[in-house]
Amino acid sequence: MKSRVKTSWRHRTGAPGAPPAPGRTITEALRSRSTRLLPGLTALFLTGCGGVERFPATWSEPRSDFARELWDLQQLTNVLGFAVGAIVFAALAYILVRFRYRPGMPEPKQVHGNTRLELTWTLIPAIIIAVIAVPTVRVIFETQQDPPEDALPIEVIGYQWWWEFRYPVGEDTVVTANEIHVPVGQTVDLRITSADVIHSFWVPQMGGKRDVIPNRWNRIVFTPEEPGVYYGFCAEFCGESHALMRMRLIAHTPEGFDAWLRNEAAPAVEPLPEDEAVLLGQQLVTQGACAGCHVIEGTSANFGRAGPDLTHFARRRTLAAGILPNNAENLAAWLRDPPAMKPGSRMPNLGLSDDEVRYMVAYLQTLY
Ligand code: CUA
Repeated sequence: MKSRVKTSWRHRTGAPGAPPAPGRTITEALRSRSTRLLPGLTALFLTGCGGVERFPATWSEPRSDFARELWDLQQLTNVLGFAVGAIVFAALAYILVRFRYRPGMPEPKQVHGNTRLELTWTLIPAIIIAVIAVPTVRVIFETQQDPPEDALPIEVIGYQWWWEFRYPVGEDTVVTANEIHVPVGQTVDLRITSADVIHSFWVPQMGGKRDVIPNRWNRIVFTPEEPGVYYGFCAEFCGESHALMRMRLIAHTPEGFDAWLRNEAAPAVEPLPEDEAVLLGQQLVTQGACAGCHVIEGTSANFGRAGPDLTHFARRRTLAAGILPNNAENLAAWLRDPPAMKPGSRMPNLGLSDDEVRYMVAYLQTLY
């Protein structure tokens, strides 16, 4: 036992078998190691800054009525909080200097049991809390209100680890994934539930979070104000790829939204007969294992709904629930080994050959 401990110590401080360098403590050894690791760690950290296009995941740039209410409330509490902080720290600084110890100074006047002082420092915080509470309660009730009659209903369904969005269009339902499209100036009524575990829907620039709970329909109502692409994600730990459960909210002009919805309601684009790779890909996707989980409207893949609807997949900006730009290279990497990109992914590694991947990418990229 004793010799094993010794061996591992040698491994940590120098070449195996070599005695510890003379006069070198564990702290020194670790410090030199962390110095060597630092550039590597910094590089790793900075990789977080690249990759997929970035959007502010912030509620300080509100782009809906709901988000604006939250931000105004936040500013009120900020102002009051900073004012209290400034007064307290200024008083502290003054007291520390003015009443600091000097040799021979008399004992200061004791104020224990001073009723007026105690009333003051109880009442002032109570008033501040009341000032914050009134608008807080008002905002809570306002943002829980039932939607107006003409609100646009959209169903939001959370899955491990992606989002489904369903739009009623007449008798039909348009189904899409990971990109929720909304028209500006129109109140939307999102009805939210989960197909498996608890998630949380959050697009910070559109408003607050909503719990996504199996067997329960929650609701969030807001009116998007400005066309744009907004970042959203799951805000409740839901398993190993929780951090990879992202989405985009795309706010269109009303005309742009109608055009998008019309296109989504149409069946998938049919490949041209002369495009051999695309045809082979279509066969693989719509008659192979993919069809067990993915729907592509207008093809034989129209029964399995465990995975995202792919009817207009090529129009989406990102793939694998918002984690990578939707391009041929990323799509090929995803098809080769989904769990490598998204640990725990329900989509398994199907053991596809390079040719199969190439054909499938060719087909999926035509799905506009
Ligand atoms: Cu879904 Cu976290």
